[in-house]
Amino acid sequence: MRGIVLAGGLGTRLMPTTLAVGKQLLPIYDKPTIYYPLSTLACAGVRDILFITRAEDRAATERLLGNGSQWGMRIEYALQHEPRGIADAFLIARNFVGGERCVLILGDNIFHGEGMTALLRSARERKEGATVFARRVPDPERYGVVSIAPTGHATRIEEKPAAPQSDWAVTGLYFYDNAVLDIAAGLAPSARGELEITDVNAAYLERGQLCVERMESGIHWFDVGTNDSFLDASIWVRDCARRGECVGVVEAAALQQGWIGESELRAAARRLGKSGYGAALARLISAAPDSPCGAGARSA
Ligand code: G1P
Repeated sequence: MRGIVLAGGLGTRLMPTTLAVGKQLLPIYDKPTIYYPLSTLACAGVRDILFITRAEDRAATERLLGNGSQWGMRIEYALQHEPRGIADAFLIARNFVGGERCVLILGDNIFHGEGMTALLRSARERKEGATVFARRVPDPERYGVVSIAPTGHATRIEEKPAAPQSDWAVTGLYFYDNAVLDIAAGLAPSARGELEITDVNAAYLERGQLCVERMESGIHWFDVGTNDSFLDASIWVRDCARRGECVGVVEAAALQQGWIGESELRAAARRLGKSGYGAALARLISAAPDSPCGAGARSA
């Protein structure tokens, strides 16, 4: 399975900062925003990853993540020259995905909590169709919205509807079979001029192949894009860190997958020196978390 992180976008709600730096490079508490989606993919066991960035952020993103070998991952890069919509990621990633299944995560989405690892596992095991993750929100009109029948099947999906039929928002994490490449290639731009991910999901719904995983309240989801949401997410990550929970620590997920061992962890802790992140890695050496995408740290 191939992973795609879409880290394009102009970050207009974070200007003037984003005139110089893409929002996915800005920190959420103690690490750059893109560490969070990257660690979610690592929790899902996905180690071949394409990062799609703006041209301006390509060099800095590569300086930060390199080729991924420090985590036992393989990271490649591609550019999105204009913000043409989320589904444009599949046009850009066509060769990278090849004949495989894929998972797309938005570079500004953070997922963490009890049960997240199990949801990722079941989505990964599904061989056909699409899986999206829905979360109840008070303001569904800001998101893709999915209606869910009592049986758990999706019955309707709409992008930012003026009159939402449900309060289940579709989050920025999507698993697809290989048909997604052709579905995305056949899309026409929406009224706002974008290739909509909701149109991709609607095509799967029409085929009877859209599965919705409901994220219950134990799972936290942040879609950061404003000054307030950056601050809220940062405070939440800091509170988790104070309780000894690892959120967005890529090494924790890589360790659990067996992609790295203790010596790589020691080297990373040394390299990152006196930072809070380096200290968290040093703690991992003696007490790796049971579930790096969920709550709790294993006692030493
Ligand atoms: C995008 C998608 C929307 C989804 C959201 C999740 O919205 O279009 O369906 O609910 O991401 O973060 P945007 O961030 O472009 O407003």
